[in-house]
Amino acid sequence: MARIAVVGPGSVGVFFAGHLAAAGHDVIACARRPFDRYVIESAEFPLDIEATVVTDPEDIESTVDWVLVCVKAHQTEGAAGWLAALCDQNTRVLVVQNGIEHHRVDPFVNGAPSIPAVVYCGAELVAPGRIEHLTSGRLIVPAEPFGQELVELFAESQAELRPSGNFATHQWRKLSMNIMANGLTALTRRKMGVVTEPGVKPIAIALVRECWQLAQAEGADLDPGNAEEAVETLMASGGDGGTSMFYDTLAGRPTEHDAIHGAALRCADRLGIDTPTIRIIHGLLDARAPTN
Ligand SMILES: NC(=O)c1ccc[n+]([C@@H]2O[C@H](COP(=O)([O-])OP(=O)(O)OC[C@H]3O[C@@H](n4cnc5c(N)ncnc54)[C@H](OP(=O)(O)O)[C@@H]3O)[C@@H](O)[C@H]2O)c1
Repeated sequence: MARIAVVGPGSVGVFFAGHLAAAGHDVIACARRPFDRYVIESAEFPLDIEATVVTDPEDIESTVDWVLVCVKAHQTEGAAGWLAALCDQNTRVLVVQNGIEHHRVDPFVNGAPSIPAVVYCGAELVAPGRIEHLTSGRLIVPAEPFGQELVELFAESQAELRPSGNFATHQWRKLSMNIMANGLTALTRRKMGVVTEPGVKPIAIALVRECWQLAQAEGADLDPGNAEEAVETLMASGGDGGTSMFYDTLAGRPTEHDAIHGAALRCADRLGIDTPTIRIIHGLLDARAPTN
């Protein structure tokens, strides 16, 4: 049994905290709002079990074996008090966030190693401790150096943990879909079906193509020449779901565009690769008027 803290038990955090607790681990949820049970409404992975919840970092008595960082990327600094109380050099920090800049946690974790995760878990927090879970419960992590330890941590759990020797490809493929889908749905305030609009589809393809140019330069196995096919395949699946940036925009909450589009631009600048479409979409996202 490992001692695990989940910082930010929201849509994704409740899923992994609940299933790791159900697997017999000692799990603390580090939350802003109190709750006493993990309730996961789900066709595939339902759960309703007691939760141990702390709402003040000063109540953390000792460091833990594992921390799962599940706050949104722009909330990471705000969670620094939790990370300082939970981490020492023996702690491992799994960053359960979208994007490619998981090292954002490093200034706050007292020298603990941080591990990026690509997150596939469609869920929405409906009340503290309670989520509606729609699809997947999977994390993909680099095979080295902690992949096997993570496999063991998740072994008895219904949540899925996959180490990959080709992590960069997973990470960049997910980033490209977020760059395309999150930005366009947030700006148009329409769900994914907006990508089939004749005026929008070329923008979607350009976004994926530019992202895959960066990905290829960073060693991912993604060919920019296949960007159009990737968008066609996604649209052929017929989904008209929302994205997290779409829902955050409608609710007037800050969005993760700096961790998604901004991260791609920082990479583009470092590599000297021109990504004009990503730059335009990022500029528009950044310039939106506050909604409330
Ligand atoms: N949701 C999905 O379907 C999904 C899918 C794939 C990837 N992701 C990624 O997963 C990451 C987490 O997203 P999410 O959807 O789970 O976000 P979320 O539902 O907004 O959950 C974040 C949680 O963190 C809490 N929080 C924020 N600051 C905190 C602090 N200082 N101390 C303690 N708790 C704090 C929030 O508390 P309050 O509840 O009080 O606001 C919220 O419950 C993001 O990077 C996202 O892009 C999400």
